[in-house]
Amino acid sequence: MPLLIKDLHVRYGALEAVQGVNITVPDGKVVGILGANGAGKSSVLKAVAGTIRSAAGEIWLDDKRIDGMGPHQSIKLGLATVPEGRRVFAGMTVEENLRLGAYSRNDKPGIEQDLQTMFERFPILKERRKQHAGTLSGGEQGQLAIARALMVRPRFLLLDEPIQGLSPVITDLFFDIILKLRDEGVTIMMVEHNVHFVLNLSSYLYLMEQGKVRIEGEPKELTSSEYVQMMYLGR
Ligand SMILES: Nc1ncnc2c1ncn2[C@@H]1O[C@H](COP(=O)(O)OP(=O)(O)OP(=O)(O)O)[C@@H](O)[C@H]1O
Ligand SMILES: [Mg+2]
Repeated sequence: MPLLIKDLHVRYGALEAVQGVNITVPDGKVVGILGANGAGKSSVLKAVAGTIRSAAGEIWLDDKRIDGMGPHQSIKLGLATVPEGRRVFAGMTVEENLRLGAYSRNDKPGIEQDLQTMFERFPILKERRKQHAGTLSGGEQGQLAIARALMVRPRFLLLDEPIQGLSPVITDLFFDIILKLRDEGVTIMMVEHNVHFVLNLSSYLYLMEQGKVRIEGEPKELTSSEYVQMMYLGR
């Protein structure tokens, strides 16, 4: 099993934001995480990405234990992240941001090729390649954050609300990109408030509430749950 989260706990001082979460993301699958604001979704994702330390539990990527590793180490294992709020490097150009995404790689021709691929997929990034990322619109920054993560050529991709603020056209484009990545064997864990987007992509979902997994299952199991219908599908 490529990504395995076992009995994860995350604390911020006295607050236990994640209280014993177990999540499995099988090889080449998309797994979705749903939940209300403050449920602990981003905390789980950050613990996997290595941007925060977990208080207890284990995180495994293939056969390597990665909790306690920083992001610089996990990126070398092929783990890329689109963080919440998609922090781009505002003072750097679009192209510099993209090249930075590939910093852990040393296959120069592959990097150049991927850069062109990103410019084809996201034409606005090509148009703005010499512009500082901080001057991009919110939706353009969203595209840049996604493209930068793809420059890692990830085997594992963590997405925290990737389509927030994106137009319907770019959302559809990104939907297709995720399908393509999945078909190429990339393993994806995605936090998303857009229930339909995540239901249509995921083979399995976890619904978090107050630091715990409340419900988990395949999309059809989740959509048939009365709780999910009431809270998320407005039925
Ligand atoms: N750095 C921090 N310091 C203190 N408390 C934090 C910190 N980060 C998160 N929290 C708290 O931990 C809880 C879980 O936060 P988290 O960001 O994981 O939620 P979330 O499920 O991603 O929510 P949202 O859907 O709003 O993004 C919240 O109560 C939040 O206020
Ligand atoms: Mg969050």
